Amino acid sequence: MINAFAYMGISTPNHADWNDFGTRILGLERGADSPDGGERYRMDDALFRLAVYPGDKDDVAYLGWTVNSAVEAAEMEQRLTSHGVEVTYANAVEREDRGVEGYFWFTDPYGFRHEIAWGQFFYPSTFHPGRSHAGFRTGDQGLGHAVLIVPNLKEAEEFYRGVMGFKLSDYIRGPFDVRFYHVNGRHHSFALAEGPCIGVHHLMFETNSIDDVGIAHDLVTEADLPITMGMGRHVNDLVTSFYVKSPSGFAIEYGSGGLEVDDLWVAKTFHSFSIWGHKPHPNLAEMGPGMVIEDLSNVSVEA
Ligand SMILES: [Fe+2]
Repeated sequence: MINAFAYMGISTPNHADWNDFGTRILGLERGADSPDGGERYRMDDALFRLAVYPGDKDDVAYLGWTVNSAVEAAEMEQRLTSHGVEVTYANAVEREDRGVEGYFWFTDPYGFRHEIAWGQFFYPSTFHPGRSHAGFRTGDQGLGHAVLIVPNLKEAEEFYRGVMGFKLSDYIRGPFDVRFYHVNGRHHSFALAEGPCIGVHHLMFETNSIDDVGIAHDLVTEADLPITMGMGRHVNDLVTSFYVKSPSGFAIEYGSGGLEVDDLWVAKTFHSFSIWGHKPHPNLAEMGPGMVIEDLSNVSVEA
C-alpha cells in the first residue's frame, strides 16, 4: 500500500522564479539538478522533494508515492492492472533521475502521472535550508499534501480511493467541495477539490515551528507576492497556515501544527474550511483556482 507522498515534479515556463521563491522565502534547499533536467529542491535529507522542469506550459510532471518494497509495488501493480490501468516500469537511468531503488508509473483518468516508488534515497544530516529555518515536518509523513482540481469528486474518488487505496479523512462542503485522504499519519497527503478544470489547487509544506510560518509570511509580504488566503486555522487538520501563489499558478500552503490520524480515525463532514482566518484575497476570483492544466468551464459538469 502507498505509504507516503514522497516527491513531485512540475514543469513551468517560470522555473527561474522558483529559485528565490523556493529557497529564500520557503526555506527549501536547491539541490543538484537531476540528469533529466529537473531543478531539484530539498526539504529534508531525501535527495529531493520537488523537481521543477523548464517547460512551455505549467503542468504536473509526476506525483511520486512510495510503497515499502518491490513486492508491495508488484501488489499495487496487480491492483492497478486488474482495473485496466497500464503500468510502465522505469529503467536504470530513470531510477537515478528520481533517486529511488525502483518505480513504475501510470496515468490516472485525469491525465496526472503517478509514480509508485520504493527505496527513496536519503542522505542523513545533509539538509541545509535556504534560509534560517527549524526544518520541515516530513520523514514518514512525506513532503506534505497536494490538492488537485477535478470536475467530479464522486467519480474521482472511485479511482483514488477505490483503485489507488487512499483512505478517506474528511469531507468539507463549502463554496466548493473538497475530499481529503491519508496514506500515513498525516491527516491528508492528498485532497480533491471540485472545479471547472483539471489542475492543481495547492501544495502544502508543513514546518516544525510556527515561527517559520510567520517569518515566511513576513518575507512574502515584503516581496509583495500574492497571498491568496491569509493566515488561518483549518477545521480538519488543525494546521495554522497561509497560502501564497507560486510562480506556477498553484498556491503553496505554508503551515504548522498538523493533526495526526491513525487507523481508528473517523471521517467527518465539515461545512467551512477554517476555524478562523484564511481570508481570501479580494481578487481571488480573477487570480484563478490554481495551476489550470485543462479548462473545462465550457463543458457542462454534472452537479
Ligand atoms: Fe491544504
